[in-house]
Amino acid sequence: MTTESDVKNRIWIFDTTLRDGEQSPGATMTVEEKLEVADALVELGVDIIEAGFPAASPGDFEAVKLIAARVKGARVAGLARANRSDIEQCAKAIEPAEQSRIHTFIATSDIHLQHKLRMSREEVLERVSEMVALARSFTDNVEFSAEDATRSDWDYLVEVFSRAIESGATTLNVPDTVGYTTPAEYAALMAHLQEHTPGIENVIISVHCHNDLGMGTANTLAAIAAGARQAEVTINGIGERAGNTALEEVVMALATRGDKFGGAWTNVRKDRIVPSSRLVSGITGLNVQVNKAIVGENAFAHEAGIHQDGMLKERTTYEIMNPEDVGWEGTKLVLGKHSGRAGFRNALAELGFKLDDEEMQAAYESFLLLADKKKRVTAADLIALVRNQQQTRDDVYHLRQWRVDIASGEPANASVVLSYGDVQLAGDAEGNGPVDALLQAIDAATSIQTTLEYYQVEAVTPGEDAQGQVHVRIRSEGQLFTGHGLATDIVEASARAYLDALGKLRAGDASTVLAGSSVSRWG
Ligand code: KIV
Ligand code: ZN
Repeated sequence: MTTESDVKNRIWIFDTTLRDGEQSPGATMTVEEKLEVADALVELGVDIIEAGFPAASPGDFEAVKLIAARVKGARVAGLARANRSDIEQCAKAIEPAEQSRIHTFIATSDIHLQHKLRMSREEVLERVSEMVALARSFTDNVEFSAEDATRSDWDYLVEVFSRAIESGATTLNVPDTVGYTTPAEYAALMAHLQEHTPGIENVIISVHCHNDLGMGTANTLAAIAAGARQAEVTINGIGERAGNTALEEVVMALATRGDKFGGAWTNVRKDRIVPSSRLVSGITGLNVQVNKAIVGENAFAHEAGIHQDGMLKERTTYEIMNPEDVGWEGTKLVLGKHSGRAGFRNALAELGFKLDDEEMQAAYESFLLLADKKKRVTAADLIALVRNQQQTRDDVYHLRQWRVDIASGEPANASVVLSYGDVQLAGDAEGNGPVDALLQAIDAATSIQTTLEYYQVEAVTPGEDAQGQVHVRIRSEGQLFTGHGLATDIVEASARAYLDALGKLRAGDASTVLAGSSVSRWG
């Protein structure tokens, strides 16, 4: 039975992976990828999805609109600066949502007022009243954020939030935009606002922290203990600069130590945490640091003999959470080339993949090729393999043959044969190392000129026979395209990632074009 205290202590999880998270350098996602993340967020059970910043670019607008039309069971928010045009565009983008929210913001610190906005405090107050009321004319759910709240004058913040409440805001966000506050200071600010802002008891107070001093989670939890009831977070803590507060850390801190936060709880499905983390790092190419709380590769690894001994006797000697509760699959999941189709199918089902027959067949064929090269195919390999298959546009360019010659002190020489429909394309090039030479040979074969803006390689699993996963981003005529490639050889993985991006460019498929922004983004 849900008690009054349960209702009072519910923490609404506002996920901003698709907006603030997407602002991490290198994290830009295609519209298709954003939809995939939105589906995962719904499955994870977040309450509000901030889908993007519609006024930033036509791509952002389209992505927010598509997410709004698709998501069921979570509220979809769009971000808007406190001006008429942003709010009107945001209203249009979120219009198809089952439950919508306009999230409008303006800076309130004197530093921002003087140097960025060049507005007086009185002008900002007027703007807040006018724009929150405008947002309310489109939806009955409006969030107002006082950007750089933690460096703003506290009494002025009270005035700003009072105006927002009078004009119809239903959630008030108190962002620590530059990651400057401390837990005690933030808690005191929350108390000050609750004591002095008329009507604040009728709205939700929200916390939004950045991690510049590594205190994002601590500050968020301090604000929750002091009465905030919405936490703005991102998967893996991705976001501007040092990132935002990590969803998994707040959710698991409350699940594990909720009693220290007045019984605060969330509705997040904990077993979807690790799969969501993998999805976001796979799509963005932003690796999770190995020792990252909850979702890092080592978060539940025990190396020291004393620890291993304790673990063998009783898991709780060294584990405060059960890894399987947060979605780490058992370490048993290892396949080899004799595992057979049924074993393969079962393993994919255990990892949560739902593939149709055709996709299953293609995945099985790739698995057999991999199992030939690698004795032990692990869960991480399978995830990379299926995700790679789902992401890759292999209907445009096919890599048929490649060769690279390298010797110390000499440039690398590469040649490549591709197919494009029925046409065979070949190219040769000299380069500064094997990857550079091979990508240049591809340029020569395709005759497409692009700029490689981002290149990242990672090993899917440890070990000499690990698969290499490469993520690239290329720019052509102002548009950005991402590509992902997987192979046991990183030079080949690089070629595959590059061809994936070129395939998207060549297909001119608008839905795969990145929602890159033409105006500045917001932290
Ligand atoms: O960090 C910040 O201030 C923001 C606002 C737009 C909420 O992201
Ligand atoms: Zn932010």
